Amino acid sequence: MTTNEADSEVYALPKWWCEHNVQLLDVYSCAGTSVALLYRLLSQRTHDQSISHKTMPTFAEHLAFVCKEPYTAWYVILGDDYQVGAVYLSKQREIGISILDEFRHRGYGTQAVRLLMARHPGKFLANVNPANAASANLFRHLGFGLIQHTYARE
Ligand SMILES: CC(C)(COP(=O)(O)OP(=O)(O)OC[C@H]1O[C@@H](n2cnc3c(N)ncnc32)[C@H](O)[C@@H]1OP(=O)(O)O)[C@@H](O)C(=O)NCCC(=O)NCCS
Repeated sequence: MTTNEADSEVYALPKWWCEHNVQLLDVYSCAGTSVALLYRLLSQRTHDQSISHKTMPTFAEHLAFVCKEPYTAWYVILGDDYQVGAVYLSKQREIGISILDEFRHRGYGTQAVRLLMARHPGKFLANVNPANAASANLFRHLGFGLIQHTYARE
């Protein structure tokens, strides 16, 4: 077997074959170390990934927002010992999730949302831009169903 054939066998393995070591670290108890990561995640967001976030705040504005503790829970996602993203649960029980570009499509987002739901059992909502297929797929795979289309005029 050539090296190329061996490589293609590895890539042909089913997508869900590996579970990662994923942990959630409380942003509010270690804000100093996580605020730069949260700002980087925000800067990677495009308009079709978010329905709530239009313009990029300054770092100082972002820091002030984090310090207000706006969500019920907010976690940095540690995946296999790397900071790979962040996940939160809003006071209205909405889940927000962001994974750094370089760690996407490896299952971290799905595992992190599962952990969040286990830690805060109850009803959950997810506001997803219709153009954001990755996010829609993630929530659908976790059993979320579509309940409404929201129209806006600005
Ligand atoms: C949306 C987002 C959070 C998804 O996170 P992610 O970690 O890439 O998601 P996952 O890897 O868990 O799942 C995405 C895909 O990878 C697949 N996957 C899941 N586990 C996997 C694994 N262990 N190995 C390989 N692939 C896997 C899933 O089947 C899914 O595939 P599909 O989209 O083709 O159906 C991420 O793309 C992101 O941060 N986007 C920018 C911010 C954003 O849009 N946030 C959501 C706002 S509502």
